[in-house]
Amino acid sequence: MELLKERILKEGKALNTEVLKVDMFLNQQVDTELIDAIGGEFARLFADSGITRVITIEASGIAPAYATARIMRLPLVILKKAVSIAMDDSLIQAEVFSFTKQKSYQLTLQKEYIRPGDRVLIIDDFLAMGEAAFGAISLVERCDATVGGIGAVICKSHQPGLKRLLDAGYNVQALAKIAEMGKDYIRFEED
Ligand code: G4P
Repeated sequence: MELLKERILKEGKALNTEVLKVDMFLNQQVDTELIDAIGGEFARLFADSGITRVITIEASGIAPAYATARIMRLPLVILKKAVSIAMDDSLIQAEVFSFTKQKSYQLTLQKEYIRPGDRVLIIDDFLAMGEAAFGAISLVERCDATVGGIGAVICKSHQPGLKRLLDAGYNVQALAKIAEMGKDYIRFEED
């Protein structure tokens, strides 16, 4: 997605070979027009995938997933990272280890929000090691639903997540694929 790549080059900042800072339009300050365009692009890419529900992981996945679900006219479900007192005992959880944060958390879903037979599209902001995506997949499959696609706004293809998901047979689409980066340079994969 050229618009997104231009924005990453203009405003993103590679802190090192692993971490790209995009707080100014994606992770903290959110450019709503760009997010709408991202939603439109995911809706186009997954139009023929028979999707019945979009899911994401709080917090930074919510904006692009909302835009996607809105354009596809589908319900959106947000997986939580912490159990709130408002959740009841029909919870299912998957442990996810975050390499970026070097700690584990429990990805949590109230089971009734994914129905047996649903075909789910998982949307997130970053795909790095793939741990969050595999956690989300396990929750979807435990609801007797299937994963119809995985969309990442930014994928760092030099990290293993993309290959792991493709090798497992999932349809993964990333709007900007970073082949390599380092302090103050970013190189995208050719489309
Ligand atoms: P993985 O899920 O693919 O295995 O990746 P990892 O554990 O490394 O990522 C954990 C968190 O770090 C996720 O956010 C992910 O979106 C974010 N992240 C990964 N790589 C980058 C990066 O290069 N730049 C930025 N800005 N974020 C990155 P999170 O902890 O769930 O945070 P949030 O969604 O609550 O904001």
